[in-house]
Amino acid sequence: MFTVAPARTLAPATHRSPRNGVSIALFGLGHVGSAVAGLALEPPRAARWPFRITGALVRDVHRPRPTGNAVARTSAGDSLLDPAPDVIVEALGGLEPARTLVLKAIERRIPVVTANKSLLAVHGDEVFAAAAATGTPLRYEAAVLAGVPFLGTFARRRIAASFPSFCGVVNGTTNFILTEMAASRSYSEALADAQRRGFAEPDPSNDVLGIDAAQKLAILIRHFAQCSVRADAIEATGIAGLWARDLHHAAAFGGAIKPVVAAAWDGVEVTAFAGPAFVPSSHALARIDGVQNAILLRGAPGGDLLFAGPGAGPLPTAATILDDVVEAIEDVETRTMDGGIPDVRAARPEAPVTGWFIRLTGAALAAGPDISGLLGAHGVRLRRASEEEVHDGRTAQWLTAYPCERRRLETALCALGAATGCDAFCVRELT
Ligand code: HSE
Repeated sequence: MFTVAPARTLAPATHRSPRNGVSIALFGLGHVGSAVAGLALEPPRAARWPFRITGALVRDVHRPRPTGNAVARTSAGDSLLDPAPDVIVEALGGLEPARTLVLKAIERRIPVVTANKSLLAVHGDEVFAAAAATGTPLRYEAAVLAGVPFLGTFARRRIAASFPSFCGVVNGTTNFILTEMAASRSYSEALADAQRRGFAEPDPSNDVLGIDAAQKLAILIRHFAQCSVRADAIEATGIAGLWARDLHHAAAFGGAIKPVVAAAWDGVEVTAFAGPAFVPSSHALARIDGVQNAILLRGAPGGDLLFAGPGAGPLPTAATILDDVVEAIEDVETRTMDGGIPDVRAARPEAPVTGWFIRLTGAALAAGPDISGLLGAHGVRLRRASEEEVHDGRTAQWLTAYPCERRRLETALCALGAATGCDAFCVRELT
């Protein structure tokens, strides 16, 4: 026989309920900060509470802003912490003064929302430890795939979040540039367009050198693998070495070159890289074009999961930040990256065994050397090869190779270079 205890009236959950709206101190009033202010001042009807911006930290208080005089500006960050707002939104970017101000806010137990990849990638151990020690909410959904809310979802769904690897396109600027170059636009035109649309970092070299992607990768590894890996310990390659012809030949070989990140972990070590890769058209990431970002979570209990959407741009980022503000107020329980992080490790840079997309250049190519035989002697088997053509005054040929270890490929290309004088440029194939 079962006995059933009588029903009890449950106490309502104790969420903070800001009576006069949620007060937000805004650190930074650039592209993203201004969009946060604009959206906070005229929030969508779905917003649960009104928002109030108590002030914005700016370097130059006299510079005109898109928000006009609707937001009070100051160059003294500390003044925005006292009296304490309900939430700090850190949209300064960069390391300082963002780190100092965020730590001061956390010390005062003021919830923090940030989209600052550099801060979390470089000072993540310190910032997350401070948040855990004081029990202060720290939200960073907009730091990776800014317009796609998935980090918080997985923080609350630990079974779904138990997977051993992921790959993704996490930098909108370089994905936009490569997509435009594949459509025959020039690199500099595409970059200028990305800057105009507010996708690119203030210093776009962080995007084009792969630094932004490596920082996001470090954040993803912390979030999903529960490991602290320094962004500068991750192998990162930029897109500067790519030619438009590479993109055209990749298309002819049945794929595309995409700026990807990938990581895998097994409880002992993490392997990771950020850089351009040949993505076959059958791969889920091959269709992620323009400023779109995506992440493919592989081997989750229910199967692979793909999340895709806008990864950059002021409005998507601002919408995600304001949802984070509400979550920080409600203090929804999440897996913050606190004491559970094991030893700090470096990601192993070696690529696993993978296929390769190769461009050879050199005068000797026109004489038709036995490339397949020379590479084959080192165990590198070619899959496809283009006819050689003259490009930028150089004879060039494009190839794809069957999967082999990176070291084997490098040895084979060195031997080819010694025998023919050819230079080689290669990127991995994403599987
Ligand atoms: N510069 C970044 C990008 C902005 O292009 O993805 C969003 O993090």
